[in-house]
Amino acid sequence: MSFTNVSIREALQLPEGSKARIRGWVYRRRIYGDKAFVVVRDSTGIMQTVVAKGSTIDFEKAENITIESAIEVEGTVKNDPRAPGGKELRVTSFKIISKAEPFPITASASREFLLDIRHLWVRSRKMTAIFKVRNTVFRAIHDYFKNKGYYEVQCPMFITAAVEGGATLFEVDYFGEKKVYLTQSSQFYLEALIYSLEKVYTVAPSFRAEKSRTRRHLTEFWHAEAEAAWAGLNDMLKVEEELIAYIVERVLEENQQELEFLKRDISALEGVKPPFPRISYTEAIEMLKRKGIKVEWGEDLGADEERALTQEFEKPFFIYGYPVKAKAFYHKTDPQNPKVTLSADLLAPEGYGEIIGGGERIADKNELIRKIKDFGLNPDDYQWYIDLRKYGSVQHAGFGLGIDRTVMWICGLDHIIDAIPFPRTIRRIYP
Ligand code: 4AD
Ligand code: MG
Repeated sequence: MSFTNVSIREALQLPEGSKARIRGWVYRRRIYGDKAFVVVRDSTGIMQTVVAKGSTIDFEKAENITIESAIEVEGTVKNDPRAPGGKELRVTSFKIISKAEPFPITASASREFLLDIRHLWVRSRKMTAIFKVRNTVFRAIHDYFKNKGYYEVQCPMFITAAVEGGATLFEVDYFGEKKVYLTQSSQFYLEALIYSLEKVYTVAPSFRAEKSRTRRHLTEFWHAEAEAAWAGLNDMLKVEEELIAYIVERVLEENQQELEFLKRDISALEGVKPPFPRISYTEAIEMLKRKGIKVEWGEDLGADEERALTQEFEKPFFIYGYPVKAKAFYHKTDPQNPKVTLSADLLAPEGYGEIIGGGERIADKNELIRKIKDFGLNPDDYQWYIDLRKYGSVQHAGFGLGIDRTVMWICGLDHIIDAIPFPRTIRRIYP
């Protein structure tokens, strides 16, 4: 008799009568008459194994096995429509690799408790399904940029001046010397690197000291950022919509099972195809006013306003031309309209809101220095960034995609903390 090690997904495809050895963790255990039903979980799925009483000493082992114990089981595949996946393994050998202590997670566990015990909750089928989608999203981002001729680069996380405004900067003690912060965005370094590689991107964490508790803010999030020389706002919008459509297409191809497990409405994702609608900030304000929402031209749009706007669209959509004061200093002013910038956000539908921010950058040295001063900042803090405008400056544009928010939307989650294995928020840095 020969047994081969197989994954549970493979075991569930074997014809009846095949011999197989699977290993994994005990997902469920139930005694029924003279049989022990032990459902085993591995990274590919779950499978029911059946240990019959009287046959061997293995019955006692199976009878007393605890949830999350690591086991290795040999047996014969048998069709059974009642079993998950339609097959079970009739056990001939039941080996305990490591017996688990009583597992602390039960069906009645609160959300808070599941976060305290996240290091164990990551084993749940829900989390596993989300991580698989997340994996596809990261892969797709790298594949997209690679196919489009972008170079991947790496930028520092310790920085000395704010990119996205001082309010959300994390200060770090750096040998007690000068002030150092955790980066909010790799954008400025990408801007330096376009003069070497022209088209660059990076996938890295960004940090924001977000004091508000919302469903879509982490203090440490994953950021996919791109920057291209010779590009204007509209060139970048094209890249953004292609990237998003490609990510969604890949998830639909590779994660059918996971989306089904998460009860995600697939039809909403199937429509995510370019071109995405584009509305100006001014149109967005008018839309909101017609909906009876109190907003004034000039304010940035918050989560509530964005949610209201997403009701008007079936797929992701762009809002372009944000007012000068509503966006960070580096955005280029629209030469046709000095009140607004050549910036755009991409909003995900179904209430999710902003997943991308980006636009065209100021390429002129004097314009940049003026803007830095207008924003009450000190040009001395941005010396090297200003330098880039002294030596062969060219038109350029870029954007940043919040990957965790993208996963949240694609998976249809109601909170961003479930989109990342170990979330960092204002209240949580453990485990
Ligand atoms: O709109 P943001 O602040 O833009 C930038 O950082 C630019 N420098 C990017 C660039 O042009 N290279 O952030 C970009 C995206 C947001 O649209 C959002 O999806 C995500 O990053 N994001 C967050 N995600 C989770 N938690 C937070 N606290 C986030 N802050 C921003
Ligand atoms: Mg933004």
